[in-house]
Amino acid sequence: MSFEINRLSEDFAAKVAEIEKICFSHPWSERTVASEMESRFSDFFGAFIEGELAGYIGGRTIAGETEIFNVAVKPDFRRKGIAKALIEKFTEAAREKETQQIFLEVRTSNLGAIALYEKCGFVFCGIRKDYYDDPKENAILMRLAFDGTQEFEEWDDEE
Ligand SMILES: CC(C)(COP(=O)(O)OP(=O)(O)OC[C@H]1O[C@@H](n2cnc3c(N)ncnc32)[C@H](O)[C@@H]1OP(=O)(O)O)[C@@H](O)C(=O)NCCC(=O)NCCS
Repeated sequence: MSFEINRLSEDFAAKVAEIEKICFSHPWSERTVASEMESRFSDFFGAFIEGELAGYIGGRTIAGETEIFNVAVKPDFRRKGIAKALIEKFTEAAREKETQQIFLEVRTSNLGAIALYEKCGFVFCGIRKDYYDDPKENAILMRLAFDGTQEFEEWDDEE
């Protein structure tokens, strides 16, 4: 199944909010998505399969630092490399803005997403206690750095 990745405008806010509802216990509303999309600091990309929005990624870059808000793919389209391709596209756009590092948070139980981020080069860099609700859970903070400090942060089991 082939897909294409395009930059998303505010016109897709409702479609993105639909994916949010399917994928998260605290989904962003259409209004929140639209207002983030309007920001000049934000980048949103969508993966399309035969015209259908199958998944999206959104985040923002400010003063050389990038944050990924969310990555989500509709259940029927998972494990086809869509999220990985979305992260790669987003990373490319962030690097064009000369970002030094990209951060994201992920639930400690979300092993699939953690595996995805590790595959994309992100490494563990901290814990945010009780960061999530429903269910209450810690967040793992992960980072992808372009300033030569990536190895320094890498988790070392032997320490
Ligand atoms: C996490 C999510 C975005 C992954 O999307 P996806 O398009 O299926 O991911 P990809 O196909 O690009 O996966 C690339 C690699 O990541 C890893 N991976 C992705 N999902 C995985 C899973 N459920 N279990 C284990 N590894 C997984 C694998 O290494 C995979 O490569 P492989 O399929 O060749 O083994 C998707 O499952 C999703 O939308 N989940 C709900 C929302 C969510 O949790 N988002 C993250 C919030 S922080």
